[in-house]
Amino acid sequence: INIESFTTFKVPAFCKYFVKVNTVEELNEALDFCDEKKISLLVLGGGSNVLFTKKFNGLVVQLNLKGLKINEESHQHIIISAMAGEYWHSFVKYCVNQNYGGLENLSLIPGNVGTSPVQNIGAYGVEMKDTFNSLLALNISTRKIESFSNNQCEFGYRDSIFKNIAKNKYIILEVRFKLTTKNHILNYSYGAIKEELNKHKIVEPTIKDISKAIVNIRRSKLPDPMVLGNAGSFFKNPTIPLYKFKNIQKIYSEIPHYILSHNTVKIPAAWLIEKVGWKGKKVGNVGVHEKQALVLVNYGGGTGEEIYQLSEQIIRDVNKLFDILLEREVNIII
Ligand code: EPU
Repeated sequence: INIESFTTFKVPAFCKYFVKVNTVEELNEALDFCDEKKISLLVLGGGSNVLFTKKFNGLVVQLNLKGLKINEESHQHIIISAMAGEYWHSFVKYCVNQNYGGLENLSLIPGNVGTSPVQNIGAYGVEMKDTFNSLLALNISTRKIESFSNNQCEFGYRDSIFKNIAKNKYIILEVRFKLTTKNHILNYSYGAIKEELNKHKIVEPTIKDISKAIVNIRRSKLPDPMVLGNAGSFFKNPTIPLYKFKNIQKIYSEIPHYILSHNTVKIPAAWLIEKVGWKGKKVGNVGVHEKQALVLVNYGGGTGEEIYQLSEQIIRDVNKLFDILLEREVNIII
């Protein structure tokens, strides 16, 4: 079965079995099917963080659980839950329109609500963990629904327990966020947001203004997956030891960086990729985006294997010049 249309890279993606599930009961039936056939399971959300390089020889489940619910409302906050299959940006738009604050910086990120905690999606100074309250997940082996608090999710930069010890053990069903209903905590310190607000002469922005600014920034820099297949950032921004950073800085004084602690520094992977000459380059049907070097794109007709090989070359070149090993953030199906 070809499930290319369920992924944002738009490369050929095949699996042995495929099912779209709309309820938890249907999900349980799908798990029974895997047990009976003794095959492996792959759960797809929005398909925006996955690259198929080979046929997946098991069952792919597209999680289509829908719905939003207000769980609690207090003086200044609201706890709102969204089912895993809700499209992330629709959920953000809904919250912004209702004047629920906290998610506006995460506007226009592709993917679904259910996969947002897995890699703790983040952009423009905000991470999902900042407003995350808790989630409900189905334990695949016991079939019980368990609740995870913010601490229990062990969030980090593009990281959570679901990428580590809980990997492939749970299916996230529902995510709860604690959002502000007044006195919003706005975050527009990021240079590009300030510029965008200035351009529209906005001095005291609302959450709607910030959301709009971010949508404009993202549209101007990042390729729309509907037009050009991609999975957003292909690599994580690496964290390196301070001494290594100082050595690189001696040669490249302009190197952008964020100091994380007294001996660690985070470097934009996009800068490293650009410096080794890959930005905007095309190899066959795939390439590195011309406006953001962190994004690998499928110009049409590309395969997962081609994208994977391109990423290997980039990793090799960056490693050769800077002695930094880039890590992929996209899940590779091999
Ligand atoms: N830069 C370059 N060349 C480029 C692009 C960027 O040298 O082609 C340098 C510039 O110095 C720039 C710096 O990198 O100032 C940072 O660039 P940008 O603000 O575009 O952010 P990023 O670090 O490249 C991260 C996230 C993005 C998120 C942006 C904005 C990761 C892996 N990526 O990218 O997330 O939108 O910050 O906050 O952390 C995604 O995960 O799919 C994604 C797009």
